[in-house]
Amino acid sequence: MPIAKPVLGIESSCDETGVAVYDPQRGLLAHRLYSQVRLHAEYGGVVPELASRDHVRKLLPLVRETLAAAGIGVADLGGIAYTAGPGLIGALLVGASAARALAWSLEVPAIAVHHMEGHLLAPLLEADAPQAPFVALLVSGGHSMLIAVDAIGSYRLLGDTLDDAAGEAFDKTAKLMGLPYPGGPELARLAERGESGRYKFSRPMTDRPGLDFSFSGLKTQVLLAWKNSDQGDTTRANIARGFEEAIVDTLRIKCLRALEATGASSLVIAGGVGANKRLRAQLAEAALRQNFRVYFPRPEFCTDNGAMIALAGALRLQAGQFEGPGIKVFPRWDLEQLSPLYPAG
Ligand code: KG4
Ligand code: ZN
Repeated sequence: MPIAKPVLGIESSCDETGVAVYDPQRGLLAHRLYSQVRLHAEYGGVVPELASRDHVRKLLPLVRETLAAAGIGVADLGGIAYTAGPGLIGALLVGASAARALAWSLEVPAIAVHHMEGHLLAPLLEADAPQAPFVALLVSGGHSMLIAVDAIGSYRLLGDTLDDAAGEAFDKTAKLMGLPYPGGPELARLAERGESGRYKFSRPMTDRPGLDFSFSGLKTQVLLAWKNSDQGDTTRANIARGFEEAIVDTLRIKCLRALEATGASSLVIAGGVGANKRLRAQLAEAALRQNFRVYFPRPEFCTDNGAMIALAGALRLQAGQFEGPGIKVFPRWDLEQLSPLYPAG
């Protein structure tokens, strides 16, 4: 039975606890995020067990806070959406258990949301929303994918990374130049102060056909450049600039190729690296020049958040989809296996 009441969204796949309320009629009513960045910083990366425990501590207070901000009570909810994967199993289980328990006690349906579907539907939270078919570039800490979105729920993988994801390349490169965790946004900030052209790195896999990515070689090039340099602040910024330009150029080239291959005229950028200013500017410019439309979620909805999960869940619940009472999570989950929103017939 399609629901028209507000949907609570819960995201807990990694190191961010995100909660939001999305109303199918009125749009996003409230969203809250708690980031565990400070907790993991001293270890230089996410510690899964600590992440799970912190989700346990933060999730219910955040649910209360978000419902209050939305001006509704639990009894007003028509469904619960939660990230069921891919992600860290313990972290996923915290969100899934809370979501299922809430749904059970409120006697409303619960829906398992694919984290990457959440990311790629995030632009639908904006006033100027894309319409399928479109091509989506999903660039996060764990993924670099080009996807043909034939309809919401029908996804074809056009290209994937052969090694490091784009965000992972940002994070690892930042780390090897001594920047604190999480390095990606820090490296991007530094790149703004760097001089263009002082360091030129390769644009991996753009010299041959295909839509796959490979970023680990770029990281090695940076390591060599850094080791052979004076390792001063100006050099660090110049290398950061060269690295960012190489990644952004590579992503832009592959996006244009994917648009050409599919004949689509809309491009969606999503995932944490989608918050990158240079990537946004370059693609906006390319769109003007080459006559296609590009859609970005606002930067806070590029990185992990509850709003994208509430939205994706609301769309699926409205289409009559929901889960059985078992608590299931999928640390690995193929996006292409999802069911279309409106099955044929
Ligand atoms: O989507 P997300 O929040 O989490 C995952 O699902 O992985 O993406 C996080 C990734 C991290 O690797 C982070 O360094 C990167 O996105 N990131 C950025 C920027 N902001 C976040 N990378 C480049 N420039 C940014 N401004
Ligand atoms: Zn993510």
